[in-house]
Amino acid sequence: MKRLFILLLATALACSGPAPKTQDPLPMSSEKKNDPHSFAQTEIAQVVHLDWDALIDFEQKVIDATATWTLSEGSSGEVIFDTYDLDIIDVTDGNGKPRTYTVGEKNALFGSPLIIQLAEGDKKVAISYRTSPDAKALQWTDTEQTADKLGPFLYTQSQAILARTWVPCQDGPGIRFTYDATVQVPPGMLALMSASNPSEVSNDGAYTYSMPQPIPSYLLALSAGHLAFKEVGARTGVYAEPSMVDTCAWEFADMEAMMVAAEELYGPYEWGRYDLIVLPPSFPFGGMENPRLTFATPTILAGDRSLVALVAHELAHSWSGNLVTNSVWDDFWLNEGFTVYFEMRIMEAVYGREYSEMLALLSHTELLNTVEEFMESMPDDTRLKLDLKGRNPDDGVTAIPYDKGYHFLRLMEETIGRERFDAFLKNYFQANRFKVMDTERFVALLKTDLLTEEEYSSIGVDNWIYAPGLPANVPVPNSDRFEKVDGYALAFLNETKLPENEVTETWSTHEWLRFLRRIKGADVNALAQLDAAYSLTRSGNAELAAQWFENTLSEKEAYRAPNDMDLEASVTDFLTRVGRRKFLMPIYSALLEGDKLEWAQSIYEKARPGYHAVSRESLDELLLASD
Ligand code: BES
Ligand code: ZN
Repeated sequence: MKRLFILLLATALACSGPAPKTQDPLPMSSEKKNDPHSFAQTEIAQVVHLDWDALIDFEQKVIDATATWTLSEGSSGEVIFDTYDLDIIDVTDGNGKPRTYTVGEKNALFGSPLIIQLAEGDKKVAISYRTSPDAKALQWTDTEQTADKLGPFLYTQSQAILARTWVPCQDGPGIRFTYDATVQVPPGMLALMSASNPSEVSNDGAYTYSMPQPIPSYLLALSAGHLAFKEVGARTGVYAEPSMVDTCAWEFADMEAMMVAAEELYGPYEWGRYDLIVLPPSFPFGGMENPRLTFATPTILAGDRSLVALVAHELAHSWSGNLVTNSVWDDFWLNEGFTVYFEMRIMEAVYGREYSEMLALLSHTELLNTVEEFMESMPDDTRLKLDLKGRNPDDGVTAIPYDKGYHFLRLMEETIGRERFDAFLKNYFQANRFKVMDTERFVALLKTDLLTEEEYSSIGVDNWIYAPGLPANVPVPNSDRFEKVDGYALAFLNETKLPENEVTETWSTHEWLRFLRRIKGADVNALAQLDAAYSLTRSGNAELAAQWFENTLSEKEAYRAPNDMDLEASVTDFLTRVGRRKFLMPIYSALLEGDKLEWAQSIYEKARPGYHAVSRESLDELLLASD
């Protein structure tokens, strides 16, 4: 009966033609607290362990695999998995006995349910399948797009609901499982997962892994290519292409200090090793907190360690997110807001308050801009607790969960003092380790374990979490260093006075960013003088280059770079090399704002095949819709 109901609904939901932006909610999501982005019906049957056996085929750009899932006690009747364009080859009980299954019709956002009939006593199901060459989580990077050109490269990006495009799984953050895996790649390649990892290339391209701590599916990760490893500390190290690995180890030398600081704040690191892999530049995010192995963009290699806050951020997720996990994507701020708060605390502990306050102020400005922008067209998306039912959870990835979440936690800290707040958080991570958390339970905890009634209402907890906009008691970070920068920005805007070399020599990337953001809209001739002095058009620092491109390209008047620098060439090179969405969106938007649609589209046409699906989806919306 239930199965029929799901099938009927799945059929009703199936859509044809281009993917609409909003989909109807998945079946039965309102009846109980089920994940609205997953077909799984965990009260009938739930997974507890995965054995994954895979062959990575770089020629056809597919993975041939068997996923053998162990089911929890009491699972019976049928078990439902999420899949997206997986070619299911056969399903057995794990001992070779076939089991009947159905693949429901495809929903453009959520894919298809795979419904397997269990026989009495079945404890496992084994699913053999092949991924689609277009699987959204998989980025097959051509040799040309790698640094050393030793061969192609593969990496996955599962968060939020893309794990189902490479592993049939119960794809919601509330479902945890342990895993073991064997992976076969072409000999010469190193393959890594979000698990115990090899540090050396094997002779035959075969590798085994184990992840004994239970994780949700969005933390399943795989990466394979010509990689080398270099130790950073006793528990830390970096993987990167051979020519980059020394540079990377230098840039991230403080990983160990960050771990020590983090553990001191909120308790033991529970995952064994903490390594980081620097991926090819097409990686669509800055970083991804895959357990034991953070995935990172090479655009944080500034050469001066100035962009390592990203490492602190992904490391912090080892507690907020990976250990205590948002129950569904509506509670995403519990992952990211806590992580930004924790990131700032790690940065403060390792580099000092003056430094972390610059980061906090950048977050503050971002927050004000986002709230202002969203209040016009989508005020509901400025709430901490989101409503993403029927929508792509990716729509919730904005400055709100990150920066509003951060400021809310900071307000609590400032209201009740660090000592009480830290004790609460330490206990929170300990008491909820390897569990899920939702917004309502968190609010209940605040009431029972942390805040007096007076504190609760003076903070305005409900308002912060459930109301749109930004409460008036938002904390304002204080940075003397930025105040000085603001003075130089004003002098530049008003009198075209350039900041002197002696001054800018002391500036970090953050001060430069603050300065460039403050002088947005400056006259193009003034910008050219700044460029002549500091060669911003040719900056090797991706953050600065991206900000500079944004500033200059958004001008309707054509910007001419001085000293034979070629803005067009720099922008084209950047956009065809780098796939990080955080940079691509503002730069392409600036091109549109500056009436350069044709230019934007011609670069995009060339660059698009090299971008990850996550970036392509956002850019298609921006650029192909403006025709
Ligand atoms: N977990 C996120 C990345 C993510 C979020 C991927 C949602 C897919 C869906 C990661 O921890 C993150 O926040 N990355 C930021 C880093 C930054 C805030 C330091 C990024 O990629 O820019
Ligand atoms: Zn994060």
